[in-house]
Amino acid sequence: MSGHPTRQGWFSGEAVECNPLPPPREHPYRLVLLGPPGVGKGTQATLLCEYTRACHLSTGELFRAAKCQHAPSPAMLLALDAMRRGELVSDEVVISMVQERMTCLHCPGGFSLDGFPRTVRQARELDRMLAESDLTLDAVVCYELPLEEIVARLGGRRTCSDCRAVYHVTANPPAVPDVCDQCGGALVLREDDHPTAIRRRMQAYRADTAPLIDYYAATGKLIRIEAVGTPEAIRARTVEALHALMGAVA
Ligand code: AP5
Repeated sequence: MSGHPTRQGWFSGEAVECNPLPPPREHPYRLVLLGPPGVGKGTQATLLCEYTRACHLSTGELFRAAKCQHAPSPAMLLALDAMRRGELVSDEVVISMVQERMTCLHCPGGFSLDGFPRTVRQARELDRMLAESDLTLDAVVCYELPLEEIVARLGGRRTCSDCRAVYHVTANPPAVPDVCDQCGGALVLREDDHPTAIRRRMQAYRADTAPLIDYYAATGKLIRIEAVGTPEAIRARTVEALHALMGAVA
């Protein structure tokens, strides 16, 4: 994705100007990606952003990046503990982190939010933050996949410890085992990809996040996508559904 904005505003939490700035669009895409852990939201966000040219904004990535900070705040340490156990981080912490990054939500290049919102309270806050700036979401894409395939995807996932690129040991292996194709970094198993944490993440999804499907269905902006097949086939299905909902805005 050469020439794509580096998202430093999202990761640093400051009003840092991205370099390069996203290309201005007559109608930037403002999307939310929903779906259970491991369904492929991050993979699709990366692929979709090549098409929409909007930034991939993941709250999970934000927390994982904060883990590497020198002195994480007490609130962040609690958040990282919850994450390791497979529980949701508190709404207060997540909402304040997103509020600090409002510049990314206002970006003229648009955004694909991945992992936020995750509760009805977060969804209401997002609506409020966007409405304050006369912005609205274009679509909420909900990916669906049978549980056994999700478990296979999570069990085989490897993530670059340096640049955060995501691989799968069989579906998307690196050229050299355990080495990132993009930066040469070491590929690791995520701390929350062990069976107990996966079970808790699934429970949290069912209890707190799945209600968002009805929340967004009521707005008429929900698109349901079967997340089977190759990542490229799923992206093509998503783009087709976005066009059907929004018209060709690209
Ligand atoms: P987060 O990082 O958002 O994790 P998640 O929602 O559990 O989702 P994943 O990243 O596990 O999966 P994914 O759907 O992105 O799948 P991926 O593309 O990697 O959040 C982590 C934690 O942070 C949460 O548990 C919580 O503690 C905290 N948190 C974050 N946001 C929060 C919020 N808003 N509120 C409260 N807490 C919050 O794909 C998975 C694997 O499958 C990869 O190996 C990939 O290569 C492979 N794959 C992808 N597509 C395909 C395909 N089509 N075919 C075969 N393999 C594929």
